[in-house]
Amino acid sequence: MRVLVTGGNGYIGSHTSLALIEAGHDVVIADSFINSKRTVLPRLEAIAGRSIPLHDIDLTDAAATDRLFADGNFDAVIHFAGLKAVGESVQKPIEYYRNNIDSTLSVVEAMKKHGVGKFVFSSSATVYGEKAPVPYREDFEYLQSSNPYGQTKVMIERILTDTAAAASAATTDDETTPEWRIALLRYFNPVGSHPSGTIGEDPQGIPNNLMPYLSQVAVGRRDHLTIFGNDYPTPDGTCQRDYIHVMDLAAGHVAALNHLDKQTDPVRAYNLGTGNGTSVLELVAAFSQAVGHDLPYQFGARRAGDIAANWADPTRANTELGWQATHTIEQMCEDTWRWQSANPTGFPDA
Ligand code: UFG
Repeated sequence: MRVLVTGGNGYIGSHTSLALIEAGHDVVIADSFINSKRTVLPRLEAIAGRSIPLHDIDLTDAAATDRLFADGNFDAVIHFAGLKAVGESVQKPIEYYRNNIDSTLSVVEAMKKHGVGKFVFSSSATVYGEKAPVPYREDFEYLQSSNPYGQTKVMIERILTDTAAAASAATTDDETTPEWRIALLRYFNPVGSHPSGTIGEDPQGIPNNLMPYLSQVAVGRRDHLTIFGNDYPTPDGTCQRDYIHVMDLAAGHVAALNHLDKQTDPVRAYNLGTGNGTSVLELVAAFSQAVGHDLPYQFGARRAGDIAANWADPTRANTELGWQATHTIEQMCEDTWRWQSANPTGFPDA
């Protein structure tokens, strides 16, 4: 298939683009570079052994997005583009709603107009909200997220569901309306890097997430890790999360894309997680092992909005997509460390 990967220059998008190419698909990337460096692409091309077309485009620009589709001949879209920092979204809700919703609307409108119905959406476990019981299952009623970033994911899932439902019900003479097949992929906590160590996660500024923060401590860019709370009702008092290797996540996208033709529901949600919870202290221990020495940390106050524990029930993706996460926590740490130690300051600027 000829696949448009929006946000394909970013962390998960770049790894997924490689997995798609390896699976025999043609990849075209659209990226605005607001959250990624231009030096990612040549490294991707070096791993892939071929050039990868990339369009520098802001998808909130509906006219530009339409032009991309008019010339694109796409069979499917994987939509990663979007702002993703939980804390920042609380400070800048309008920017988050405007960017994430507008860009998705531009893409879906262009897909409808140009008859492209296959869509894989980058959603998040955050759609389950704060009160869902663990493990999270796709058939839970999700209603809201505690922050604007998560709320954009909930809203986009709704927009896609309504769009597909309208098309199924329509007695329309609109010839281009495609038969929608949409997979909503709800990620748990993506970590790790491509085994080459040449691409990986490269957050701008101070990392919000645990793994990139820890790897910056290990490489000497930060003094120590602050662990947000050690009085949670968990075995060691620190929060538990379902960390998933980005290569497994990338394989999950390929599996979901290849399964769209067999997907009976127009819209189907899938959890992409391992099904295991790992505590902050356990992750620190595994990363220290990968680095070869203990890493400095202190306990601090709880972070607002954090919940004690969550992990996936990945049964649906296992059975329907034939996909399963295979990487261990040790591999996640080793691969993250290979990338970070070889690229202490991330991708070069130019
Ligand atoms: N943590 C620390 N210190 C840090 C950073 C994180 O102790 O410096 C802890 C957090 O308190 C949490 C755990 O490490 O207990 C994981 O935190 P992350 O920020 O790495 O991940 P979250 O589970 O909070 O966030 C993830 C995704 C979001 C998504 C959210 C809810 O990154 O995109 O899950 O599903 F919205």
